[in-house]
Amino acid sequence: MKVQLKFESPAKFTTAMLAVFSADSSASKEKNAPAKPILLTRDAVFAKADKPALESGEFNAGRCETLLLHGTPELQAKRLLIVGLGKAAKVTVDDVRRGAGAAVRFAKPRGIRELAILLPEHDGLDLAAAVQAAVEGAFVGDYDPDTYRSDRKDRSIEQLTILAPQGADKSAVEKAFREGVVLGESQNFTRELVNEPGNRLTPTILGQRAAAMCKEQGLACEVYSTDKLHELKMGAFWSVAKGSDEPPALVVMRYEPETAPKDGPVLALVGKGITFDTGGISLKPSDNMEKMKYDMAGAAAMLGAMRAIAQLKPNVRVMGILCSAENMPSGKAYKPGDVAFAMSGKTIEIINTDAEGRLVLADGLHYAKQLGATHLIDAATLTGACVVALGMLNAGLFSNDEETGERFRHAAQRAGEKFWRLPLDDEYRDMIVSDIGDIKNTGGRWGGAITAAMFLKEFAGDTPWVHLDIAGVAWMEENKPWIARGPSGIAVRSVVEWVRSYAG
Ligand code: BES
Ligand code: MN
Ligand code: ZN
Repeated sequence: MKVQLKFESPAKFTTAMLAVFSADSSASKEKNAPAKPILLTRDAVFAKADKPALESGEFNAGRCETLLLHGTPELQAKRLLIVGLGKAAKVTVDDVRRGAGAAVRFAKPRGIRELAILLPEHDGLDLAAAVQAAVEGAFVGDYDPDTYRSDRKDRSIEQLTILAPQGADKSAVEKAFREGVVLGESQNFTRELVNEPGNRLTPTILGQRAAAMCKEQGLACEVYSTDKLHELKMGAFWSVAKGSDEPPALVVMRYEPETAPKDGPVLALVGKGITFDTGGISLKPSDNMEKMKYDMAGAAAMLGAMRAIAQLKPNVRVMGILCSAENMPSGKAYKPGDVAFAMSGKTIEIINTDAEGRLVLADGLHYAKQLGATHLIDAATLTGACVVALGMLNAGLFSNDEETGERFRHAAQRAGEKFWRLPLDDEYRDMIVSDIGDIKNTGGRWGGAITAAMFLKEFAGDTPWVHLDIAGVAWMEENKPWIARGPSGIAVRSVVEWVRSYAG
């Protein structure tokens, strides 16, 4: 999808379809009151074009509701699409993001390959924030996961134009537009990786894709495998990796701006990259096992975030660490009852080989600290228990440090992604104490997302750390008007926003 920003009259702009946002201006308190849709533009040309349609009662301007008009002689555009954003008093930039996605997803299956979106003008809505959200939403909407379908019909939009009001602050809008492109493209980059099946994305291939991205974006990157795991004594990571014929990949990426203060923070982004999770010897049931190709969504999110960071160039040092392996049962696989020796020196009793994510991350987090990280953040499709707790709407957010956790929560709010904080009281640690070694890799039936996080906390130690359990939200089961079902690309935007909050 090619994108451009224009400060031009929407009436004179020639395109296959012009999308304009609308909101319901009726007072929200009246019950069953008829909707009063208004267009969110100050351009007088629309008053005539849309009047009969808006007054017809057919369209209520509900969130992502659409109405298509043909034959509007006042406009150069072939078609006019009106996209609802809900109640006028409640419209947010998140609604704009989704509305833009809905416009794109309206166009795609209808063979409309060219689209212009007019930015909404609305009291309380910051225009720069709205342009960024609109571009992000358009990219998110443009993505479809049917990569390997021979008769792929839902082809991408070829040209998207964002039309900004002529009186707008040009430089602020242009900057926000460029940032929206970077974030939207990076989120889709992540989704493409998550969508790949296990046979097309092994740890080795994930390493190659990371190296290629880093080369393109000018990031330093090293990709290691088995020998390095042994050299670093990453016994937890290796326990998981050794059951597969596919060698593991340990990826270390570095973004080091020269201007960053020498004693400033060093942020480490650590991702779980299990390219397929069978459960190992504690084999998963076959129902839905195919979905476990997305068990590398945490690594893919960190990769997407590093891509965006390389382009946005915040003045702070960042490293990305991906811990990638395939969790397989075999004659070489680790077994329940085994004791693994983590890089940190801690011993881990293996109770269940399906609790493999925390093992690869244990060594990844410790290594990040050894490489000089002052702040840690990890993303992982870590537990089914997190999905039970929060459903498929919110991802789990944990932290060992109040300020750092809240900083992430606010960053996620700004980025328009939902994370919900869960507790990490010291008392939960009792649940992962082992008889034979230091800790065990499962904490029993209750509070599974928390005990998994407690396990990781052992390896974060005193370093401020954020843990994101994205198991429930990294893969969407249902199509939505603004996003296709499949990989969501969750965490990319929030992690980048969190990183930028540290820029000096
Ligand atoms: N990758 C899974 C978690 C998962 C579940 C991701 C559902 C996405 C959707 C993880 O490796 C796992 O298997 N966790 C176990 C842990 C248990 C054995 C303590 C789980 O959640 O059942
Ligand atoms: Mn597992
Ligand atoms: Zn897993």
